[in-house]
Amino acid sequence: MDFQNKVVLITGATGGIGFEAAKEFASRGAKLSLVDLTKNNLDKLKKTLKLNNDKVLLVTADVSDEKQVKEYVSKTIDKFGTIDIFLNNAGVEGEVASIIETQKEDLDYVLDVNVKGAYYGLKYVLPVMYENKKGSIINTSSIAGFIGSLGMAPYVASKHALLGINKSAALESAPYNVRVNAICPGPVNNNMMRNIEIKVAPGAPDAVRDNFIKDIPFGKYARNIDIVNMILFLASDLSTYITGNEYRIDGGMAAK
Ligand SMILES: NC(=O)c1ccc[n+]([C@@H]2O[C@H](COP(=O)([O-])OP(=O)(O)OC[C@H]3O[C@@H](n4cnc5c(N)ncnc54)[C@H](O)[C@@H]3O)[C@@H](O)[C@H]2O)c1
Repeated sequence: MDFQNKVVLITGATGGIGFEAAKEFASRGAKLSLVDLTKNNLDKLKKTLKLNNDKVLLVTADVSDEKQVKEYVSKTIDKFGTIDIFLNNAGVEGEVASIIETQKEDLDYVLDVNVKGAYYGLKYVLPVMYENKKGSIINTSSIAGFIGSLGMAPYVASKHALLGINKSAALESAPYNVRVNAICPGPVNNNMMRNIEIKVAPGAPDAVRDNFIKDIPFGKYARNIDIVNMILFLASDLSTYITGNEYRIDGGMAAK
């Protein structure tokens, strides 16, 4: 798959999936606009991937703030003139707590980042793609977009909501030849799962991981690259008739 000079905008770019996506798009010639919360991590990403200034823009932004979303989109346009691919990916797991124990602040936080953050991204990127009459958007949902998860109701709610937004966005965008799809990873071997394991059982994260893995027919977490391979497909011209869909990458969990 060739992404030579395609402009790819990625939020949550310094996290496990975002970083791997940046790496894979860069190695295929893309220009990258990378968005995340901290400049330090963005600088590190640029250095690690040896990205040239003419091929990369780093933007520090909080996706839950509409003004900052508008700005990361306009900065991308100022630098590269367009957006071809949008990986709407930033997300947080929130605290692990039952519904009756959930603090309002945590519910707000998770919904603000995972739902409103993704929504704002669509709100400001779609007009650019409509103008071009082309584009591909990949929203990062989760298997938590289909099923419940003990102690993670805000996260589950956010990822279900994102699938609803994904469908509506696809319907609105089809007349403009803009595609919108969601990916739904199962547990991925990166920081987010480490955080969840510790939050479930601060003293025994390995036991939590073993338990999660028991539910996965392949008997292991996904690697970041397993998720990114689906992202590359959905971003590419191999998927030009695909929109409004949801793709599980879950090591067989859906078969159970
Ligand atoms: N890791 C998993 O097991 C898993 C499974 C299913 C879905 N997902 C989803 O994949 C996406 C990427 O997560 P990941 O697995 O790479 O985990 P991660 O924690 O490594 O990365 C998440 C990234 O999002 C960034 N981020 C968080 N809040 C932000 C905000 N307000 N503004 C801008 N950036 C923000 C973080 O700084 C981090 O770099 C998330 O939407 C997550 O919910 C992850």
